[in-house]
Amino acid sequence: MRKGEKGILVVMAVAVIAGVAYKFLSVPKNAEPDKGIPYYSVASPELEKKAGTLMRELNCRDCHKYYGAFGGITSLVQNVPAPPLDGIGSIRSEQWLYEYFSAENPQAILPSRLKQEFQMPSYAKLNEQERRLLASYLASLKVEDWYLQETKKMEFEKLTGKTYEP
Ligand code: HEC
Repeated sequence: MRKGEKGILVVMAVAVIAGVAYKFLSVPKNAEPDKGIPYYSVASPELEKKAGTLMRELNCRDCHKYYGAFGGITSLVQNVPAPPLDGIGSIRSEQWLYEYFSAENPQAILPSRLKQEFQMPSYAKLNEQERRLLASYLASLKVEDWYLQETKKMEFEKLTGKTYEP
């Protein structure tokens, strides 16, 4: 092989490798960056610990999913279709939560379609400090705004079949 031919081959090989590499390594231009888990808590470690202990005593996880407190996921026996509590503090205010936990009949505030045994129990019998603790902790469970908007959009479009315009 002459010197010139060798040079051409090398150039071709480099071009092929570069082309393949480009194809596999390049990220499509419109790909969304990975935004990660959208849930977070603004609770102090102390609040998280106290509320976490109380919620464990009261077995909220028998029915609800949430990541907070112990970093765990959900009770393994969970089979009640209760709403997840992650991000609840971006949807409900602390005052709303306090009133909900204080209600003798929570279903008067939030109607239920479930059988009685699966419905949200009344926590009116807890002392005031405990109800405030729960409300304050749950109000600290936030969800990133972009995720909330995406969820709203999806729900809206699923329910109405129309395009969502905020
Ligand atoms: C027996 C199952 C059960 C247990 C135990 C339970 N919940 Fe619920 N919870 C529900 C259900 C179901 C709902 C939805 C409303 C309904 O169907 O009554 C609900 C609703 C809620 C809501 C309102 C959610 C929203 O969409 O605004 C909050 C907040 C909540 N629960 C917090 C708690 C906390 C905190 C505990 C523990 C102290 C707890 N729950 C224990 C079943 C339960």
